[in-house]
Amino acid sequence: MCGIVGYIGQKSGVDVVLGGLEALEYRGYDSAGLALVNDDGGQVFKQVGRVNGLVDAVNTEHPASNLVIGHTRWATHGTPSLVNAHPQSNNQQTIFVVHNGIIENFAELRERLQAAGYNFTSQTDTEVIPNLIDYYAKQLPSFEAAFKAALGDVHGAYAIAAISTDEPDTLYAARLSSPLVIGVGEQEHYLASDPAAIMAHTKRVIYLEDYDVAVISGNDVDVHNLKHNRHAKPKAELLDYDNEQALLGDFPNFMLKEIFEAPATIRSATLGRALADRSLVKLGGLENVLGQLKYIDRIVIVACGTSYYAGLLGEYLIEELSGIPVEVHMASEFKYRDEPFSRGTALLAISQSGETADTIAALKKVEDYGVLRLGIVNAVGSTIARMTDAGVYCHAGPERAVASSKAFIAQTTVLALIALHLSNGNTKLFKPLLDELDALPAKAQAVLDNAGRIKAIAEKYARHRDFLFIGRQYAYPMAMEGALKLKEVSYIHAEGYAAGEMKHGPLAMIDKDFPTFAIAIDSPLLEKTISNIQEIKARGGPVIALATQGNKSLEQLCDDVIYLPHTMHETQPMLQAIAVQLFAYYIATARGFDVDHPRNLAKSVTVE
Ligand code: F6R
Repeated sequence: MCGIVGYIGQKSGVDVVLGGLEALEYRGYDSAGLALVNDDGGQVFKQVGRVNGLVDAVNTEHPASNLVIGHTRWATHGTPSLVNAHPQSNNQQTIFVVHNGIIENFAELRERLQAAGYNFTSQTDTEVIPNLIDYYAKQLPSFEAAFKAALGDVHGAYAIAAISTDEPDTLYAARLSSPLVIGVGEQEHYLASDPAAIMAHTKRVIYLEDYDVAVISGNDVDVHNLKHNRHAKPKAELLDYDNEQALLGDFPNFMLKEIFEAPATIRSATLGRALADRSLVKLGGLENVLGQLKYIDRIVIVACGTSYYAGLLGEYLIEELSGIPVEVHMASEFKYRDEPFSRGTALLAISQSGETADTIAALKKVEDYGVLRLGIVNAVGSTIARMTDAGVYCHAGPERAVASSKAFIAQTTVLALIALHLSNGNTKLFKPLLDELDALPAKAQAVLDNAGRIKAIAEKYARHRDFLFIGRQYAYPMAMEGALKLKEVSYIHAEGYAAGEMKHGPLAMIDKDFPTFAIAIDSPLLEKTISNIQEIKARGGPVIALATQGNKSLEQLCDDVIYLPHTMHETQPMLQAIAVQLFAYYIATARGFDVDHPRNLAKSVTVE
């Protein structure tokens, strides 16, 4: 989604900000821009499309400045266009603002400002901010006071960076429900909505909290929390981030690279945690809440998209291994429910980015309920990681492709560990599952070694318009995840269904042009899934089956079979995930699509 980069210091702010915007490209955007202030006043550059267009436009003029803000925009209010791209400015072009989030009362503010003589040229909600600052700057003694007064009027969610030609030595920033960090260098500061934008320069960061307003110069940062009316000189924290992992290496795109990281992902999620030789699960992130965990009698999982499907797998895992009842809610729905909550309930948020607005809102909703708030998060230091009482990091490393792949595998692995932890060893599966988690990276590698066969099958089906994914038990959430992956990167209509539901409706869709991807792994339920496949075949529907290595029974019945190594039911999803991800990937590339940047989608969804 939208990205913010800012710089103040001795370097060329233009180069820093352009480099930062390039680092944010993976998040998905439709236009980009920057504003700078120097002795000649202010200047704005904008381009629709890729950041390299902006780089070319800026470089033809070689502007010099030590105070620059930049933005990649993912349209929410108004189409992707030059006039709607950020930075937005006031009527005199002296105040420049970039903004992530949504100003909910922008229409009302715009009317108020229009009545006071202000003109508006864009369709954005953001344009009210520089004009509101301008309005207050005419009445108040300082820009800082005007900036704060403007923030007092806006409702919604925001991360904002602002600069003014009247203040060439100051960068202003503010956040409410949208991430923003200040990077600390030598006599210089950086600003970013995602640390990836500034990691090439510094790993020392200050996390801004909700209602913080930061006044930033080259040497100093002053943070004023407007809600608590508290001033602070915050300390920088060291960010644990591996730049190397964010590079493409020899892979053609991040999606394929990240799928191929599955074995390493399982290894890092279990490292030092799944101690098979000692029959122990050690989750350091939960140690400070061990006392509370003993009294948990219900777990509510909240998440969105792929993380939600990991949550559904978590429901099976936790209930089977620990006996604790689990409910899984889409965070966007959970926010608006009125359900009873007891003190014995724990809320578990699952998020790769740790910045998903709906998941954050779900956590905020229970803030005053006195319930334990847990997290499974990949992005270290992200908002969800910091607002939960305890949690377990995925340790999957940065995920750059918009479609989540390795993070899902890490989330599912971590959920298996949490389920084992909550079982207190009272399950006969404890040791076998720990041993299996140990063996799993090699099995994941075996699935990847079969990528050529998955590619050949995917290419055969690449021109179909519809797809059905079916599975039972652990394979049911995997059917939904397989369908989501296919939809988002290949734009093929796909649905994921519980195989047992076929006769209750979806069977009506089946004909020779409507293929089914059946997850038909060896299990006590296999016979039932085979019956569903037979019903599909009887209606002329082509079937691709995901089967267990060594079980040839599906070859007669199905059109194509992809084999997976044998593993426990509880670890099957991690192997199935690789197969459905590769299937979606190869269909999308056969159709010629940019898999890392699917149309209309963004990496971290920071607005509702
Ligand atoms: C799908 C995908 C999305 C995310 C969802 C939640 O491939 O990436 O569905 O899973 O937007 O994002 P996080 O996990 O960052 O909260």
